[in-house]
Amino acid sequence: MSAFLLEMKGISKSFPGVKVLSDVQLNLKGGELVALMGENGAGKSTLMKILGGIYERDAGTIVVKGEVQEKMTPDIAASRGIAIIHQELNLIPHLTVMENIFLGREYTYGKSGFVNWGRMRKETKRWLDQLAISLDPDTPVGELSVGQQQMIEIAKALSMQADILVLDEPTAALTNREIDALFEVIASLKEKGVGMIYISHRMEEIFQVSDRITVLRDGQYVGTVETAHTDMDELVKMMVGREITDRFPKADVKWGEERLRVEHLSVKGKLSDISFTVKSGEIVGVAGLMGAGRTEMAKALFGLEKVREGQIYVDGKPIRVTKPIDAISAGIALVTEDRKEEGLVLSLSVRENISLPNLEKVSSLGVMQPGKEQALADDAISRLFIKTAGGEQIVGSLSGGNQQKVVIGKWLATRPKILILDEPTRGVDIGAKKEIYDIMNRLAQEGVAILMISSELPEVLGMSDRVLVMHEGRITGEFTREEATQELIMYAATGGTSHAV
Ligand SMILES: Nc1ncnc2c1ncn2[C@@H]1O[C@H](COP(=O)(O)OP(=O)(O)OP(=O)(O)O)[C@@H](O)[C@H]1O
Ligand SMILES: [Mg+2]
Repeated sequence: MSAFLLEMKGISKSFPGVKVLSDVQLNLKGGELVALMGENGAGKSTLMKILGGIYERDAGTIVVKGEVQEKMTPDIAASRGIAIIHQELNLIPHLTVMENIFLGREYTYGKSGFVNWGRMRKETKRWLDQLAISLDPDTPVGELSVGQQQMIEIAKALSMQADILVLDEPTAALTNREIDALFEVIASLKEKGVGMIYISHRMEEIFQVSDRITVLRDGQYVGTVETAHTDMDELVKMMVGREITDRFPKADVKWGEERLRVEHLSVKGKLSDISFTVKSGEIVGVAGLMGAGRTEMAKALFGLEKVREGQIYVDGKPIRVTKPIDAISAGIALVTEDRKEEGLVLSLSVRENISLPNLEKVSSLGVMQPGKEQALADDAISRLFIKTAGGEQIVGSLSGGNQQKVVIGKWLATRPKILILDEPTRGVDIGAKKEIYDIMNRLAQEGVAILMISSELPEVLGMSDRVLVMHEGRITGEFTREEATQELIMYAATGGTSHAV
């Protein structure tokens, strides 16, 4: 038997018109975690979908536990002990946590066909406990946060007792506590001999959990290095083929007039007494732990929450926002954190997605103008370096990071005065992150007021002129760029009040 649990060699894959993988290799030993890295669109998820039997390979060999797998289907993959936690969540919202975990493999009493709910509930509890999640197994998944849903996906994969486990950006939506719980589970799985392939754009994480790192670039295999014998600079060079020097290229922008003023904003049970301002050209970061109310605040400003009290002013004028169209016409745009639920229609093309909030720009007298629509899409594609075959590509077939760029592109096309970005670089690679920061700089220079919600402290510290910190629906800290430190922000994020301003 081979020393490897899994060997993939010479893997190639094309989709109509694009070669996505050519001659890629990857191997994995028992008890080992191999990180798979590369820029958005490098082919990481595609390689894993080939392993999981979702896509058929054009060429190459897959050997699982010494046995050559001529054919891979999802069933064969599962029977060979392979479980994949996909980048896109695949849960069914109206089913409960337990039903989702056991979907298609329900326990029954013997051969009777009667479903053994008791046993499934007990096992669900056991997996949730292991991940330190306190949730009722009977909660409908649709009521959970994105982070909680991600944890359920992880619980589901664990419950399959696979010995080859693929995690495709598992932590993108998790809280620090959830990440810690996940890493503990990863450590115990390693001890049990489970081999894991782990995809993430978060460097710090990769160094924390991986034993080896395999890098892809533009569908090609670049190399594999031992984590202990490499560093961030070497990895970045392998991934992007060049060095990236300044991770946070904050531009010096002269602020103008006050653009956004929020006074005493309250949403029942979610936000209380939120007040702040953002000037033209200013980037205000919003830090806080998951569940602190940051997304709810963004939604309230955009007409997606029922505001109980408070007043919003744009350019000094009071505005009334009860639905998104009110916000859009006042010049507010929101890039949501959850692109699948709220940000994009995955079955439509890049062009159509970009047109959606811009119908008045791409139509005249109520008639769509295909030329204008195409121009708007082309502009977004080139400004944001969106990796796509063109405006006609279906958004659902773009890589995760490129989907995020489409969300940003469609809102930029509305030419907003105030841009709210909720986790704008989640799942975005290091090069594309820099592109997004450059775009923020340019918009600030054009006078846009930017509110950037982010869970990545280096990003908050690196890109904000001012930092607001939220905790339990309130603002518990406000710091200038000069004052802000990781420690002060964390203190305020956990409930300590410290208004340094
Ligand atoms: N079903 C499909 N049809 C056409 N093109 C596809 C399809 N699936 C993926 N692609 C293309 O293949 C390339 C690789 O995509 P993939 O999702 O594997 O990237 P990735 O490395 O996982 O990126 P990310 O970090 O953004 O998730 C992209 O250019 C994408 O547009
Ligand atoms: Mg991917």
